[in-house]
Amino acid sequence: METNMNKRGFGSDNNAGIHPDIIKEIISVNTGHVIGYGSDIYTERALGIFKEQFGSSTETFFVFTGTAANVLSLSGITRSWNSVITASTAHLEQDECGAPEKFTGCKVLTVDTPDGKITTDLLERHMHGFDFEHHSQPKVISVTQSTEMGTVYTAAEIRKIADFAHDRGMLLHMDGARITNAAVSLDLPFKAFTTDSGVDVLSFGGTKNGMMFGEAICFLKPGLSADFKYIRKQGMQLSSKMRFISAQYIAYFRNDLWKNCASHSNAMAGILEERLKQFTEISITQAVQSNGVFVIMPSEVAEKMRNHYFFYPWNEKRSEYRLMASWDTTEADIEDFIFLLKKELK
Ligand SMILES: Cc1ncc(COP(=O)(O)O)c(C=O)c1O
Repeated sequence: METNMNKRGFGSDNNAGIHPDIIKEIISVNTGHVIGYGSDIYTERALGIFKEQFGSSTETFFVFTGTAANVLSLSGITRSWNSVITASTAHLEQDECGAPEKFTGCKVLTVDTPDGKITTDLLERHMHGFDFEHHSQPKVISVTQSTEMGTVYTAAEIRKIADFAHDRGMLLHMDGARITNAAVSLDLPFKAFTTDSGVDVLSFGGTKNGMMFGEAICFLKPGLSADFKYIRKQGMQLSSKMRFISAQYIAYFRNDLWKNCASHSNAMAGILEERLKQFTEISITQAVQSNGVFVIMPSEVAEKMRNHYFFYPWNEKRSEYRLMASWDTTEADIEDFIFLLKKELK
């Protein structure tokens, strides 16, 4: 038997396991039969929680993955001649294998950002060709909250982008795969920086923060979701055993489990950042506002460290690496990482 099996690392919050309260809830609903495909009391309860969190007109649909949440969100609000504008670092641009283009038919246009955050100034360059049949029609701006760089938009920044979109007849989508880390960082209720800040459609993630699987698509603006049930089914994301996604969300919101998990992972990233600051050989490249720490370190040291603790290179040319904290990261993990780093840097 290996002794170091399943050692925690800093690779991804996806690499962490499932919170025991989520597992318990899955087991607790695992008795008897309920009607499939979402016509069950657990799904009714879970959908009600989303209305409490995001506003009474919120229409929520569960899907299996974050990619599906993004792609189907966009499918619900675009036609194939539209374009979707996002940061060049966005998951939907970098890590979805072209699925947004394949399933929506839309052109994905990008803006380069220093920190993963789109601004209205950056968006200007794509604001042309409206009503011109030779040009894809800009329809959606997609922001990620918290971003792939670990940074967080303020509610005012979201509002500004939403107003910019709406003034041009466009919509604002938010990829909230790590929305809980942003909520904790901002110390705001979800509604304040989504529905109340003009977000139209949200991909709400749970998997990275203690759930097993199951993301939610929340239509925050009334009237956008009329045909969505067909889009989800055609998109092969209608779960027959929906109660097991719904139960996870019931547990996730009970006693603020989501908040405890996200507060913990953000706090661990903060401690990691503080401890890394002692090394002159290492520079931190992004503001640590959620659960990610981006560092430049000598690549030969990083390679040695990656044998101790798994983590990903972010930009190999710059020798930049991403260290992610998770709901189950411990201070002892960080202390051991720092201890080994000290040795490898000698
Ligand atoms: C910002 C962001 N969006 C969405 C996703 C969802 O991805 P998946 O389809 O792997 O669940 C991820 C996962 O890494 C992510 O980092």
